[in-house]
Amino acid sequence: MRLQDNLAKILIPSDRLQARIYELGAQLSQDYGDTRPLLVCVLKGGVMFLSDLSRTLSIPHELDFMAISSYGGKRVESSGVVRILMDLNTNIEQRHVLIVEDIIDTGRTLYYIRETFQARNPASVKICALLNKPERREVEIPLDYVGFDIPNEFVVGYGLDFDELYRNLPYIGVLKPEMYS
Ligand code: PRP
Repeated sequence: MRLQDNLAKILIPSDRLQARIYELGAQLSQDYGDTRPLLVCVLKGGVMFLSDLSRTLSIPHELDFMAISSYGGKRVESSGVVRILMDLNTNIEQRHVLIVEDIIDTGRTLYYIRETFQARNPASVKICALLNKPERREVEIPLDYVGFDIPNEFVVGYGLDFDELYRNLPYIGVLKPEMYS
């Protein structure tokens, strides 16, 4: 089985992804300077982006991970109910926190995580999302750094899954509708 055969098209090829990530890394390095930010990856989708983004940063920074779960049929329809499965190891009080996400869809996951972090008295909480689907937004959330605005299509690859597959593809592809309908 070739995962590529289930794609209608490639939306963002690997070289464009990497070029944009390099630009984001340069911007982040400039903005955060010597503040030693904590980059937080929201598992699992954000893992490819975090690992590539981290390697473009020229500044000292730390990494941490959290896992959340949302009830209901996520990806096709977001339920909006979020639960922490694995919390940070790091105390973020007075720390500059950058949440690194693969995609912002309804915005509900990030809204919840951001509120949770804000209650822990960090120095700042910002969001860096590789992909943004503005058409799908249900809650207002400030996006500080965005890789690409994309249309409302079912995207997979570079961390994004369908039924836990496709995360390893080095590009962002659009799944054929017959695969999920
Ligand atoms: C995806 C993505 C975000 C969330 C965005 O995660 O990684 O965390 O959905 O959706 P929202 O803006 O509608 O809240 P998912 O729940 O699919 O889990 P995964 O990262 O493990 O694939």
